[in-house]
Amino acid sequence: MPDPSTLPEVLLGVSGGIAAYKSAELLRRLTESGHAVRVLPTESALKFVGAATFEALSGRPVATGVFDDVPHVPHVALGQRADLVVVAPATADLMARMAHGRSDDLLTAALLTARCPVLLAPAMHTEMWEHPATRDNVALLRSRGTVVLEPASGRLTGSDTGKGRLSDPAEIFDLSRLLLERPDALPRDLAGRHVVVSAGGTREPLDPVRFLGNRSSGRQGWALARVAAQRGARVTLVAGSTADLGVPAGVEMVSAGTATGMQTAVRAAAATADAVVMAAAVADFRPVEQVADKIKRGDDEPAPLRLAQNPDILAGLVRDRARPDQVVVGFAAETGDADGDVLHHGRAKLARKGCDLLIVNAVGDGKAFEVGDNAGWLLGADGGEEELPNGSKALLASRVWDAVAARLS
Ligand code: CTP
Repeated sequence: MPDPSTLPEVLLGVSGGIAAYKSAELLRRLTESGHAVRVLPTESALKFVGAATFEALSGRPVATGVFDDVPHVPHVALGQRADLVVVAPATADLMARMAHGRSDDLLTAALLTARCPVLLAPAMHTEMWEHPATRDNVALLRSRGTVVLEPASGRLTGSDTGKGRLSDPAEIFDLSRLLLERPDALPRDLAGRHVVVSAGGTREPLDPVRFLGNRSSGRQGWALARVAAQRGARVTLVAGSTADLGVPAGVEMVSAGTATGMQTAVRAAAATADAVVMAAAVADFRPVEQVADKIKRGDDEPAPLRLAQNPDILAGLVRDRARPDQVVVGFAAETGDADGDVLHHGRAKLARKGCDLLIVNAVGDGKAFEVGDNAGWLLGADGGEEELPNGSKALLASRVWDAVAARLS
């Protein structure tokens, strides 16, 4: 059991909305991944989830008022000590109080003393999210450096649907971890931009039940889409086959099955895009024949599989750029061999594809595919070379968007 005083210190604020129940899952993810978490609910949050739930899951006491535990001056000490403050859900009322510097409970007092990154995950009805008062409060908070996540769209408290749903706790967790790795990872520098990200693998059918595919989970593409959306971009995510990842908040998702299907979807979205990032693992070949009936085992030798080349989507995007200033980014998963190391192959691929940026990942030995973390190099057509240290896929995504934003400006 690690000494709790050496763990990153996270304050988890919970304000009073139905989505407060989801904060328990976020709390669990934070504690299980090695963070010391102190929960600061508002009085109204405790009408939705009892203090016992938060105390049991965090292993720490819960208080709401500035006059609780006065000798330890918690309204100052908690904020000062924190490495990150996350408020999930953040209601319209909580954001209004925060925007105006109110400190009428322990959570808002801690928010006033915190010098660390602050992440708010809003949840409210669409009308409240779209109200000019809330829009102004969000803009004011963002202008001060507070990260206010875009809420998700979907089912709200009643039978209605719309924008304002709390982001998935897994997503809030990933972005919390990102801010702990890199406090300035989510500036609003992609506001007004449209970006396209492809993700996952493609499946090339052999018959109605079989296909040629690959092990791509789509997680790196998801992280790119998620981070771009939270940096203010309009994001189109063209998704091939992936793990069950849901739809990132604030992202428009288009499904694509085969390489040719993905090419059609990417090219359509790229027509209006400022940047296109090809993070998908596109199959290079497809079976020449796709038969309508399931191939039977039979007694004969199986027929050899005949393959045809798939289009190179990335090279096509570079060749037919929708706009001269569009930034086109590729990914390359490489292993070293007798001809050269990973970086050597990466540079050769960048030259071959002609894209502006290429992220090179070393694969094999459990690296990159189906795992949470990623490392590599960011190579630029201008000769630039940046090493991307091991970290979350969201961290790598934030470095990619830095490079894209620099080229766009
Ligand atoms: N890519 C693509 N269309 C393809 C194959 C790959 O757009 N048919 C894109 C990938 O999305 C990635 C980049 O090209 O951004 C590099 O993918 P990779 O599979 O490494 O490239 P290949 O050209 O297939 O090179 P290799 O011969 O090493 O497999």
